[in-house]
Amino acid sequence: MDIMVLPGDGIGPEIMRSALRILEIMRSNFNVKIESQVYDNINARNIASGKVTLDYVLDEARKYRAILKGPMGDPNIRTKEGVEAGLDIILGLRFNLDLYANVRPIKLLPGVQSPLRDYGDGSKTIDYVLIRENSEGLYSSHFGGLILRDDVAIDIQTITRKGTERIVRFAFELARRSKGNAYGEKVVTCVDKSNVLKSFYFFRKVFTEVARNYSDVKYNFMYADAMAQFMILHPEMLNIVVTENMFGDILSELAAATVGGVGLAWSGNIGDDRAMFEPVHGSAPDIAGKGIANPTAMIMATSMMLDWLGYSREAKIIEDAILDALRSGVRTPDIGGKVTTEEFTNEIINRVLRR
Ligand code: NAD
Ligand code: IPM
Ligand code: MN
Repeated sequence: MDIMVLPGDGIGPEIMRSALRILEIMRSNFNVKIESQVYDNINARNIASGKVTLDYVLDEARKYRAILKGPMGDPNIRTKEGVEAGLDIILGLRFNLDLYANVRPIKLLPGVQSPLRDYGDGSKTIDYVLIRENSEGLYSSHFGGLILRDDVAIDIQTITRKGTERIVRFAFELARRSKGNAYGEKVVTCVDKSNVLKSFYFFRKVFTEVARNYSDVKYNFMYADAMAQFMILHPEMLNIVVTENMFGDILSELAAATVGGVGLAWSGNIGDDRAMFEPVHGSAPDIAGKGIANPTAMIMATSMMLDWLGYSREAKIIEDAILDALRSGVRTPDIGGKVTTEEFTNEIINRVLRR
């Protein structure tokens, strides 16, 4: 089977090299039958110049069940409306392929110190999943939105019954299969601002209707602002968090910081029959070209993809190799170490090969 590979911009190609080396090992030394089709041409510059169009990307993407994506975007390359050029592709893929569940595991990995005082090094754990609705919400305005007479700018938030029902069901199904929070409680937390906006009241109302079908899973509610605090003060109490697209974007990055930063935060954009896997972080222009990017998120995204494609044993081998390397103190500069992207990758590969 073929997968589509999008190395992206900035550190994207550097960390994708790590992921592709590991995939190559999985092909040659294990029984993973996946061929990577690499699209180097899909990057912010070519999108801005019109060399690459969203239609082309979607036509290509529809040939595959799975996409492995590096970070894309360059803050200096923008469309004439002012937003970033690369983002049409990211959001275009998520929206047009209907990859409605953006699954973002928030897990404090061994050997990583959380900036939160009581977490890490064998004390309290952080291990939950943030599910970000990925097909509507405020972001659905990206392909619309308008600026009037250089005076007024308008973006509209869309919340539908269908979109809410399916993401909430996804969250409850995941909770049902999970081991729960630190107290073994399976609980889905609905995050909104239903105190202020009608669209969020509707989100919460539909959430409650769906929740009735899952009597084995608890649920609760939190306003998004309160959740930002809760994620810092009591992350061990979280199990599955479900929220609107834009809140999910912001809260997932806050959550990533609690487990050592975005270099350690990976994600899957999951649809009913297709999916795209990528790091939560961006193209990190400040460190691009230096060879020091942390490839963990990219490699964990690769592992998540293998798992989704049915290679759960191989996915686990990769994950275990990463956990073991981190536990042994192999760390890139973003998490207080000195190893390069390549050295880190070599350490993972050595561990995979020892299996
Ligand atoms: P960023 O995530 O690229 O960088 C924020 C900070 O985190 C920087 O200091 C960076 O060096 C650091 N960082 C990020 N990933 C790292 C890694 N793997 N290892 C070590 N350090 C890492 O966020 P930004 O600067 O706001 O965005 C840069 C570009 O990326 C923008 O064009 C943005 O639109 C784009 N972006 C793309 C995606 C995506 O493709 N899904 C996600 C987020 C941002
Ligand atoms: C993410 C990114 C994207 C988002 C951007 C780059 C479109 O920040 O995947 O979290 O806002 O969803
Ligand atoms: Mn983001």
